[in-house]
Amino acid sequence: MSVQSAVRRLTAPDIRARKGGEPIVSLTAYHAHTARLIDPHVDFMLVGDSLGNVMHGLETTIPVTVEMMILQGQAVMRGSKRALVVVDLPFGSYEGSPQQAFATATRVLKETGAGAIKLEGGRRMAETVRFLADRGVPVMGHVGLTPQSINTLGSFRALGRDDESAAIILDDACAISEAGAFAIVLEAISEPLARQITQEVAAPTIGIGGSSACDGQILVLEDMLGLSDRVPRFVKKFANIGPAIGEAVEAYASEVRARSFPAEEHTYAPKKA
Ligand code: KIV
Repeated sequence: MSVQSAVRRLTAPDIRARKGGEPIVSLTAYHAHTARLIDPHVDFMLVGDSLGNVMHGLETTIPVTVEMMILQGQAVMRGSKRALVVVDLPFGSYEGSPQQAFATATRVLKETGAGAIKLEGGRRMAETVRFLADRGVPVMGHVGLTPQSINTLGSFRALGRDDESAAIILDDACAISEAGAFAIVLEAISEPLARQITQEVAAPTIGIGGSSACDGQILVLEDMLGLSDRVPRFVKKFANIGPAIGEAVEAYASEVRARSFPAEEHTYAPKKA
């Protein structure tokens, strides 16, 4: 008897094979219900460590833990069946050594059932990317603006806008692509640089503030739905559901206060004898 489900989940090699083809569509997801809603429309969903900002109101992603990532990774796996699920390794859980990264990545994959992990950093992480990829861990890279480095970067501003910084980011992307990353997120970098990286690296590039030159795009779901107060320039709000939530809660509050909710149709009658 087969234990395979009828719907085959996309895999890291499926995403890798999309280089230069139809654009790769992705969004972040942290919950089972949002995972279920976006699953039919995306190729992969990222359980991003941005959950620290979005779900927990943290200023940075620095305090996010492996346990937080695993809990939300499990929820997203339960809510989805088709898209590849990628889980971020949080700050401090992988940079120490390739062995530390392998221990964290294998724990995340075993405990969530996700199909890949993502880590931040370019050339300095290339040895780790190779170590993981050689041992059966699909790795998505992330270069350009890397939010886990906020304490050394100093601010969340776009990078690669001058020749010197562009050359470093190009080298970072080439290094992790050559090391075996199956895809690379390019965050908040200039358009010509995103185009050049996309042309030069073998791995598909996934832009977030990286322009339409990339092989695919990702956004934080809550940002593109209009739920976040402040969003970066690269976010387009495809909906504005924040005010709709406020209006619904206001209507609920006034009906509760007027005792018009719950009405008869929301109320259980006694069983007929
Ligand atoms: O954590 C996250 O949401 C991310 C995306 C911004 C790519 O890394």
